[in-house]
Amino acid sequence: IMDITLKSPSEIEKLRIVGAATARVLEMIEPYVVPGVTTEELDNIMNEYIQTKENAVSADLGYQGYPKATCISVNEVVCHGIPGPHKLREGDIVNIDVTVLKDKYYGDCSRMYIVGRTSPRNEQLCKCAQEAMYAAIRTVRPGSNLADIGAAIQKIADKAGFSIVRDYCGHGIGSGFHEDPQVLHYKNNYNLIIQEGMCFTIEPMINAGTYKVKVNRKDGWTVTTADKQPSAQYEHTLLVTKDGVEVLTLRKDEDFPRIISN
Ligand code: MF3
Ligand code: CO
Ligand code: CO
Repeated sequence: IMDITLKSPSEIEKLRIVGAATARVLEMIEPYVVPGVTTEELDNIMNEYIQTKENAVSADLGYQGYPKATCISVNEVVCHGIPGPHKLREGDIVNIDVTVLKDKYYGDCSRMYIVGRTSPRNEQLCKCAQEAMYAAIRTVRPGSNLADIGAAIQKIADKAGFSIVRDYCGHGIGSGFHEDPQVLHYKNNYNLIIQEGMCFTIEPMINAGTYKVKVNRKDGWTVTTADKQPSAQYEHTLLVTKDGVEVLTLRKDEDFPRIISN
């Protein structure tokens, strides 16, 4: 049984506010992502910022027992990397994923950061994940099919010769962190007509090698590629408008429209 909630104008206002706050966390942390910093230091800076500057809280902290405020996933870590004493090094590719709860509503987004300079292959992988997310966002409007999202991502990943993680998907979001529907990032037949007022994430994880992943058995969270090749992810929270889509978590560093009208 699926329960997709269509958001009211007052809920949309709250989702805009928390979305903007979540985006600012990723903007704020950028200058700190440098060689030698530990992922725990980054997590502490973001948690402090969320509370003191955005009057909000991390939704990750305590979520199903998750121990930190953000997810920081380095190189072959696909997602749910737990911040810790690990120091970043030149050439690392790093995903920071932040979910903020403010006034009972959630915002969820992530981006890649490159520590100093990296290999052309790593750069291409990050670019591919971002372009795949953007292409998927461009398919979203009332009357379009949720399956168009996965098809758009598959086309871009295939062209680059990369693979798409199948075990994790995007999700509805609102007064719940993970709501219906599930948003698949690969070619699929989950045909669902998109409606005005729907709010969901698109968050493709693109792997350089195999699509297969495994969860760390000791911490129960850290997801890595099965072949230890690198992985990249971008995520936005989206609102379906009357005639298109609004990117609720858009940042200043992005060359992409906040509102697309079709
Ligand atoms: N932010 C992740 C997502 O995009 C979920 C992280 S849950 C946590 O859905 F517990 F690992 F933080
Ligand atoms: Co998400
Ligand atoms: Co997220």
